[in-house]
Amino acid sequence: MPPLVELARAKLNLALHVTGRRPDGYHLLDSLVVFASIGDVIALSPGPLSLRIDGPFAAGLPTDDNLCLRAARLAGAGADLVLTKNLPVASGIGGGSADAAAVLRGLARMGHAVPENPERLGADVPVCLGSGPARMQGVGEIVTPLPALPAIAVVLVNPGIALSTPRVFAATERRDHPGLPDIPRLAGLGDLIGWLAETRNDLEPAALSIAPVIGRVLDGLRATNAAFARMSGSGATCFGLYETPEQARIAAAALKQHGWWAVATELAPPPAPR
Ligand code: C5P
Repeated sequence: MPPLVELARAKLNLALHVTGRRPDGYHLLDSLVVFASIGDVIALSPGPLSLRIDGPFAAGLPTDDNLCLRAARLAGAGADLVLTKNLPVASGIGGGSADAAAVLRGLARMGHAVPENPERLGADVPVCLGSGPARMQGVGEIVTPLPALPAIAVVLVNPGIALSTPRVFAATERRDHPGLPDIPRLAGLGDLIGWLAETRNDLEPAALSIAPVIGRVLDGLRATNAAFARMSGSGATCFGLYETPEQARIAAAALKQHGWWAVATELAPPPAPR
């Protein structure tokens, strides 16, 4: 029987406001989350629990204490897992959380119930389970699905540095910001950019102070005529939104000249329910 295949799409925080802190130190967030068409790939076959990792970003990833294995254990399931790591790690676009969510989706197709409190695996796991546009609140556990966005062209750029999420949160100014403005129906790039202008990524200043190259990535995106550029999550991956897929392809090719990982893709609709 061929393995079941799940795509762990790249997650983008188009906007991310830090609205407070819980007594345990976790930050309260209000974020507009969308997903790109590209991602890591998880192949699941029946068998005892095991994990193999291949793909361009496999190097250095532990196969013993991996979120994919923790996800399967939380679901009480065995499976032979192969993770093809296409996206840079520790880079603000979902990574381990997206992979763990894809494992849980695959296991659900094999008959295993999705565990309660999947946020125990990682704050982004609940939103990555749905992999469609959503507003994410609380520390990540409150997910409100939103209508599909148009397939806007986007370029993702990572300058080749892994940023520690706890370090970026710890360096973030201790100030509570207001939540996101109401999210209207966003019918096109113009609507989206108009709305984004009223928002921020509150983790960007801290990430920039730790890794100033992020500023050069954002300048690079703007220099390739991105209609909008911002960092995703805790960084260091940044995204640019473009008028056309052709502009995005040209931009990605130019940004690779800096030695950065850059890929042209588009914002994806939520996957069809199975
Ligand atoms: O849940 P995840 O493993 O992605 O989070 C990594 C770290 O990021 C946490 O240990 C915490 O320090 C920080 N974090 C936070 N507030 C959130 C999510 C993560 O402070 N909402």
